[in-house]
Amino acid sequence: MQRSRIIGTGTYLPEKVLTNDDLTKQLGIDTSDAWIRERTGIGARRVAAPGEATSDMSTHAARHALDLAGITPADLDMIIVGTITPDMPFPAAAAFVQAKLGATKAACFDVSAACAGSLYALSIADQFIRTGAMKYVLVVGAELLTRIVNWQDRASCVLFGDAAGAMVMGPESRDDRGVLSTHLHTDGTQTAILCIPGGGSAKPFSQEVLDKREQLVTMQGREVYKIAVRALESVSHEALAHNGYRPQDVAHVIAHQANLRILEAVMKRLEIPLSKCHLNIERVGNTSSASVPLTLDQANRQGALKDGDLILMMAIGGGMSWGSALVRW
Ligand code: ACO
Repeated sequence: MQRSRIIGTGTYLPEKVLTNDDLTKQLGIDTSDAWIRERTGIGARRVAAPGEATSDMSTHAARHALDLAGITPADLDMIIVGTITPDMPFPAAAAFVQAKLGATKAACFDVSAACAGSLYALSIADQFIRTGAMKYVLVVGAELLTRIVNWQDRASCVLFGDAAGAMVMGPESRDDRGVLSTHLHTDGTQTAILCIPGGGSAKPFSQEVLDKREQLVTMQGREVYKIAVRALESVSHEALAHNGYRPQDVAHVIAHQANLRILEAVMKRLEIPLSKCHLNIERVGNTSSASVPLTLDQANRQGALKDGDLILMMAIGGGMSWGSALVRW
């Protein structure tokens, strides 16, 4: 049976660093480095330059991943971008990426699953490659959240940063290597706890939307926290059980870096040492759908991922939507 495999990874981080202290000193937000670090593990985040769009960041990360994969944009059959901050409501950010890369034969679309977007995109790419319908698929997670957070809501604005991560996926003929399985879930009764309520078809842009800042992210942090811990634990067990593995078989965890406390709680429940969970939240904050490919690229370029290592990937975001993937490197 043919599987899919991740054959290249890449990252793009905007140059500008905004530390926790900068939030208070430069932006006048009533917070502190100590509060943010203790509650979230975040020390700094990146901010895209004026004029820089999601497709620009995606294209940089994609080039980085294509170089490692050793293929050219012309080889790509499909480009999927997981994002909730596309360049414009439509067309898809993926279409802009296609033009910037010159990936002329690639079919392009975006996936809207918030912080789980790149994991959902990986799962879609996996299905197309398994069936033989496509050979090479570029999966990007890219988010420009600093443009859509409510800078007057200190409980949410301190969490997020801008970034893009990319994974090039291709065919794998060995039965014991590559993406072993993916598992996706959504609980649509929880849409209100993490969303942008205004500016869509339900509540189109109006002066009222702008006055109430409803075009920006709103979050019920405690509810998100509780659901995230339970969902990530359960979907991890699902992936392991599906393939006949136990938590102790996992060599690396590549998880969406939502919040260090969430990751600590999930690792504890899974009885996987936190040292196996690759971290970057201290440096880049919560980068939403960019988080999983960014973290994978970091581990990959550090040489931490050895042939045959079992990798557990997991992510959760607004929807609430979550998922896992089990990969044999
Ligand atoms: N700095 C200082 N004080 C703050 C800040 C801040 N940035 N934000 C909130 N506070 C204050 C509040 O005003 C409140 O003060 P009060 O007691 O005087 O009223 C106090 O801190 C507690 O506020 P809570 O909102 O209850 O804070 P909580 O302890 O729940 O922490 C947090 C907030 C960190 C967001 C937490 O709920 C959390 O980790 N939630 C998970 C959310 C998350 O990770 N979201 C990521 C996006 S979703 C995803 O990626 C899956």
